[in-house]
Amino acid sequence: MNATSADPRLEGRQLKRVAFDERTIAERVQQLGAEVTAAYPDGDLLVLGLLKGSFIFLSDLVRQINRPLHVDFLIASSYGDDTVSSGTVRMVYDPETILEGKHILLVEDIVDSGRTLNRLMDLLGERKPKSLEICALLHKHIAEELRYDTKFVGFDAPHEFLVGYGLDHAESFRHVPYIASLQ
Ligand code: IMP
Ligand code: MG
Repeated sequence: MNATSADPRLEGRQLKRVAFDERTIAERVQQLGAEVTAAYPDGDLLVLGLLKGSFIFLSDLVRQINRPLHVDFLIASSYGDDTVSSGTVRMVYDPETILEGKHILLVEDIVDSGRTLNRLMDLLGERKPKSLEICALLHKHIAEELRYDTKFVGFDAPHEFLVGYGLDHAESFRHVPYIASLQ
């Protein structure tokens, strides 16, 4: 899709550019699935999706992981304004699955400040998982606050506001099948 053609999904907004097209995403997700498969030769694997942004990525990713696994989700909410500290991120929906003794792979759409992940990783770590790692589709590499390593990353993201493939702007554009920035 080029920047001049109108995509009816975009609510009349114009594309600035497509950062990652469908084929590029599919190829990278397939590779990531192979990386994850290789990284967990044994043990129980729980793929934990952070809603809502990870829902499309997670559904594609798990179908490329060639080993037994379970799926659950969590919802985090940061209340107050965005400039407040990490202590205000809380879990709104908490995974029902027992985490103790399992490999936990936390799946996130995009790492920006890293604040959400810091708090969630702290909370999940308290439940004594066997291992706890992050898989992020996109990483802006501006997360100076992030205290955890991001073991699996799909793409280094440009420092633009991106939508599509699960990422939203005010809840719109999550269903756009490519990742783009808007005018
Ligand atoms: P962080 O706590 O600052 O790392 O925030 C990460 C969250 O902010 C992501 O899960 C997204 O929901 C949202 N976010 C950050 N950057 C973007 C973007 O470029 N497009 C859409 N959502 C974004
Ligand atoms: Mg969002």
